[in-house]
Amino acid sequence: MADKVILVVDDEQVICNLLSVVLSEKGYKVVYTTSPVEGLKLAGARHPDIMVVDLKMPEMDGISLIRRVREFDSEMIIVVMTGYPSFDTVVESLRLGAYDYVTKPFDIGEISFVIEKAFDYRNLIIANKRLMKELEEKNAELEEKVEGRTKELSLLYNVSKDIVTSLQLDETLKVIVDRISAVLDLEICSILLFDKVSKELTIKAACGLPDDAVKVTQVKPGENISGWVLQNKEAVFVEDIETDGRFSRRNQEKYYTHSFISAPLIYKNEAIGVINVNNKRSKKSFTYDDFKLLKSIADQSVIAIENASLYTSLNEMYLCTVAALISALDAKDHYTKTHSDNVARYALAIALSMGLDEEALEDMRLACELHDLGKIGVHDYILTKPGKLNPEEWEEIKKHSSKSAEILKPLTFLGNIIKLIEQHHERYDGKGYPHGFKGEDIELGARIIAVADSYDAMTTQRPYKKVLSREEAMGELAKNSGTQFDPMIVDVFLKILESL
Ligand SMILES: [Fe+2]
Ligand SMILES: [Fe+2]
Repeated sequence: MADKVILVVDDEQVICNLLSVVLSEKGYKVVYTTSPVEGLKLAGARHPDIMVVDLKMPEMDGISLIRRVREFDSEMIIVVMTGYPSFDTVVESLRLGAYDYVTKPFDIGEISFVIEKAFDYRNLIIANKRLMKELEEKNAELEEKVEGRTKELSLLYNVSKDIVTSLQLDETLKVIVDRISAVLDLEICSILLFDKVSKELTIKAACGLPDDAVKVTQVKPGENISGWVLQNKEAVFVEDIETDGRFSRRNQEKYYTHSFISAPLIYKNEAIGVINVNNKRSKKSFTYDDFKLLKSIADQSVIAIENASLYTSLNEMYLCTVAALISALDAKDHYTKTHSDNVARYALAIALSMGLDEEALEDMRLACELHDLGKIGVHDYILTKPGKLNPEEWEEIKKHSSKSAEILKPLTFLGNIIKLIEQHHERYDGKGYPHGFKGEDIELGARIIAVADSYDAMTTQRPYKKVLSREEAMGELAKNSGTQFDPMIVDVFLKILESL
């Protein structure tokens, strides 16, 4: 145990000697001086646990000494002695933080008792301080934990809110990759899904990886790191692949570098894929919190991925049904399939020369393919009638664009495409059907299809009408430009046809 040091400052040498002897006997280390100036120096140099100080001294009185000591030491326990007990000086010394006082003449027992009590008090103060410090540290730790957990929960909430905004699998996976990359500040992130047919993991969404790595990566269960994670349904956290003996020999997947985390995507106890994250942009290693967060995001993502997969396969099934309907329509009226292909060819040529983007071109292609689908609901005898249609029959035919839209309505992912289909018989002058929309109120894609559709109808052999030559059909388009057709689109198409 460290020495318990007591400093005695009293101008009476006899008191100093007495206290030195008595307190040393009790095991304390006693330093004493008869000079308050010297006492002040000793207080600064030795930092005694307790200072016993006489209040009445020449040179400097006890109150002044206490005051000076308190300037540099607020913790020292001070006991005052006075031969002239005066209420004021005692109160003043207590106010300055003196712990207790004894009056002269004192007996040895009294001073020993006060000193012992003072040490107990000091120990209490020290223990109290230590406890306060521990409490503060615990509080800070707890606050940090709560803050971390709140941050994690709010991140998770935001990520899960974002990833359920789309029902398309591709989009969902892309959103998951983007969100994880942003949250964890990643260089590389990829999602691999397990294909039950090929029995391989392939990359379905990624950022920070070269395209060729995305395309060619195929991993079997148990193979490399992703395969291990899939097979064992266990997340892996590696701070440095080079020094981690568990996985360094598995490190054949190009995209595993330095520090990474791999988490399995588990749905109903079955691993359906793996999320891999590599390297922070900050060049720091991943932390255990990152590991926990990624695992939570993986758990959240699984539901969104499964939903989107179900929805996508439902859409695919529906599209298969639509394809079957188109085949049925083709069997009913052979003309429709060829017609749809021709319309798509013309419409795409127009859209391309108008500079429409790739997405618009893809929408256009699908719209052309499906535009006359509603004819499946029109009687065969009307569709294949050799002669002219009577007004009722004509009304029946006119319903096909609305019927097409109605059949396709459940396919919400078709979005705007359904509008293009529904409006493909609207006229620029507002005299078309089904709504009588006018000018630019008609979707641009629908205005393009209208021109392509009419041109193909005019130039194809049908039982009920004579076929027009290319020049004649071009003449018809020019004649109806600005009334039936959008003049700008007719101009574009005529230029294309001229250049053929
Ligand atoms: Fe049509
Ligand atoms: Fe058509």
